[in-house]
Amino acid sequence: MPMQLERVASPQTRPLAFAIRSERPSDRPFRERLLDAAMGPARKRKSSEKLRRGRLPAEGMAFVATLPDGTVAGTVRLWHVGAGNGPDGRPVPALLLGPLACDVSLKGLGIGTALMQTAMAAAAKSGCGAVLLVGDHAYYARFGFRQGLTDLLAMPGPYERERFLAAEIVPGHLAGAQGVLTAAGRRSHRRLEDASGLARIGQPHLRQGNP
Ligand SMILES: CC(C)(COP(=O)(O)OP(=O)(O)OC[C@H]1O[C@@H](n2cnc3c(N)ncnc32)[C@H](O)[C@@H]1OP(=O)(O)O)[C@@H](O)C(=O)NCCC(=O)NCCS
Repeated sequence: MPMQLERVASPQTRPLAFAIRSERPSDRPFRERLLDAAMGPARKRKSSEKLRRGRLPAEGMAFVATLPDGTVAGTVRLWHVGAGNGPDGRPVPALLLGPLACDVSLKGLGIGTALMQTAMAAAAKSGCGAVLLVGDHAYYARFGFRQGLTDLLAMPGPYERERFLAAEIVPGHLAGAQGVLTAAGRRSHRRLEDASGLARIGQPHLRQGNP
């Protein structure tokens, strides 16, 4: 995908440049470390995780934000799910977004927004009809997410209903969709992933050399 360069002012008013690019296998330890710092260990007990575990993100729909030195400063991924069944009884295809996070020391500098815009553009380009997530409406409303679209849907585990949001890319895509979300992504073959990028997982740290 084309690189997208953002320049924003840091709290010290020094310019901060970052780019959004597709995730690479070698980003994994840096992404995981960033997520642990941003969300804590409870992140792995979320019901969204049930839809992600053992699956790969939707192809071409995992992105990282990087600083000029290659440091991974943010992450977002999209996952194929079935959004219950439609009025015809067939599973309704959709994408689940998450986790979204940026480096805790770089909050409020536009990284989350750039990742969301990139992810939603990729979802739209893929022909997907709707994106779902569990998150703060106060943040995600600006990207078109709202609550009413998920009234007849449920996550496969505990979650806060008011945080279960959706954005329709194709208007009416979720109309009549009801039931529990199901995983629909490609199954993950961790050994393949290991071979392509996890050799460096022994000493994960956030600073990364040239990507
Ligand atoms: C949520 C997160 C990804 C936002 O990324 P970011 O780069 O800090 O956000 P941006 O700079 O693009 O946007 C900042 C704006 O979002 C708002 N915002 C950030 N988190 C918010 C939240 N949880 N609820 C409401 N508004 C929020 C800020 O107040 C700011 O508002 P403003 O534009 O009116 O000043 C980031 O704060 C983060 O990693 N949080 C920890 C992990 C997390 O909570 N992930 C999302 C799950 S809901």
